Amino acid sequence: MSISAQVPSQSERDFIDGVLAAQSGHPGALLKILQQVQSHNPRNYLPRETLEYIGSRTGVPLARIFSVATFFALFNLKPQGRNSISVCRGTACHTRGSRDLFDKLMIHFGIPEPADGEGEPQAITTTDGNVTLRVVACFGQCALAPVIEINHAILGHVNEHQLQRELDALAAREPRK
Ligand code: FES
Repeated sequence: MSISAQVPSQSERDFIDGVLAAQSGHPGALLKILQQVQSHNPRNYLPRETLEYIGSRTGVPLARIFSVATFFALFNLKPQGRNSISVCRGTACHTRGSRDLFDKLMIHFGIPEPADGEGEPQAITTTDGNVTLRVVACFGQCALAPVIEINHAILGHVNEHQLQRELDALAAREPRK
């Protein structure tokens, strides 16, 4: 397989080569390689050229790499926001108001309503790269409904006031422009 014209930078390739050497011959190596390479990406995703490079170095067909990267929800094929907010839309959370929380977040971050027939977006990143907003089927914490996750911290029994406090805290941490 040939490497595309847009190869990762030398430092990225060095990092990937190090990961490949460490994982060589380990069972489930591809999963661990993709996890480590994604974590190293400043936008927490796996660019196509990175997947192509991994394929060229390992001999694993690109189609197989893509099938792994698209099967597991933890992998991202698009750049992610600097902050991550996930709203549970499972039944318990829905009946306790997660839709209102989701709508508040959409308005807060200026994300337009989906067009008719498009349905609720599964993941959307604001154009300034500040936040990726996701919906999740269930966090497995239904007793805490409604549940949201902000930057990997699970918050339960969330109401709109608490959500606003979290958004204020998030804004306070953003570097001034
Ligand atoms: S339905 Fe929301 S945590 Fe289970």
